[in-house]
Amino acid sequence: MFVIAGVTGHTGEVVAGTLLEQGKKVRVVVRSADKGAPFAARGAEVVVASLEDEAAMTRAFAGATGAYLLSPPAMTSPDMVAERRPMLDALARAVKTAKLPHVVLLSSIGAQHAAGNGPIKVVHHAEQVLGAATAVTAVRAGYFLENWAGVLPLAKKDGVLPSFLPATKPVPTVSTPDIGRVAAEALVAGARGRRVIELAGPTDPTPNAVAEAASRIFGRPVKVQEAPLAAVVPTFTSFGVSEGMARLFQEMYAGVIDGTVAWELRDAEPVRGRIGLDEGLRALAS
Ligand SMILES: NC(=O)c1ccc[n+]([C@@H]2O[C@H](COP(=O)([O-])OP(=O)(O)OC[C@H]3O[C@@H](n4cnc5c(N)ncnc54)[C@H](OP(=O)(O)O)[C@@H]3O)[C@@H](O)[C@H]2O)c1
Repeated sequence: MFVIAGVTGHTGEVVAGTLLEQGKKVRVVVRSADKGAPFAARGAEVVVASLEDEAAMTRAFAGATGAYLLSPPAMTSPDMVAERRPMLDALARAVKTAKLPHVVLLSSIGAQHAAGNGPIKVVHHAEQVLGAATAVTAVRAGYFLENWAGVLPLAKKDGVLPSFLPATKPVPTVSTPDIGRVAAEALVAGARGRRVIELAGPTDPTPNAVAEAASRIFGRPVKVQEAPLAAVVPTFTSFGVSEGMARLFQEMYAGVIDGTVAWELRDAEPVRGRIGLDEGLRALAS
């Protein structure tokens, strides 16, 4: 039995779907019963619980061989780091109490660092506390290809691809269906002590390469429009993101540029996804 969190999100849905297709027993954790209904219809057990609720999560983990966990984004939180720490600490206690043998954790490129990586410091903390509670496979994913989805309409309409990253900077990038598939494989593989998978797509595209792919998809020239890091906070807050969260993103972009947000490689297993840039972007553009 595998416990899967975040099934209404990008990656958890793929993890649960992949395991259900393989005939595995799955228990999904959702915040309301209606969100679990599509999974119940496919044969999953549904537990209504919040990841902050230690007692409910201890019950959710009971008897399971592994769980897929993530730290959900909190775009409007004034201090996401302070808010997520107690959630992750409670989850780690629940894992320990339930004697859960294995956690596959969605982590991030750059999670080897406790600072200088923006929101990634939260998954750094998650790796530490969960790793002290059980065997953890940390799936350190590259930049989500889905992060480009918000600016594709501009590329289509105006031929412009705004980017906070330099146009020629290669960025390890991965599509979330690849993450879900690799995480499902890691759950089935089972506990193997501390494991770190560094997961990117087939190539590490530059923003220029993303613009070229967008150009092929939309049948028009598309050019990268670089924006300075000073524009990160005003841009993100204009879309309703809290100032604290926007500052974390600014720190993350700075970390990508200065090389802090990079692979660790030392003890990690590098894995390449299957979904290429054109295929992934085409799916986001449709
Ligand atoms: N974006 C990137 O480039 C990038 C790169 C590497 C790693 N990451 C990591 O990816 C993670 C996000 O993964 P994702 O995109 O799959 O997530 P997502 O699509 O934003 O989904 C979040 C999921 O968590 C659930 N959730 C939220 N709060 C919850 C709570 N209190 N209790 C239980 N469930 C809760 C949501 O359910 P509801 O439907 O109830 O809201 C949803 O299913 C983050 O940890 C981030 O660090 C991101």
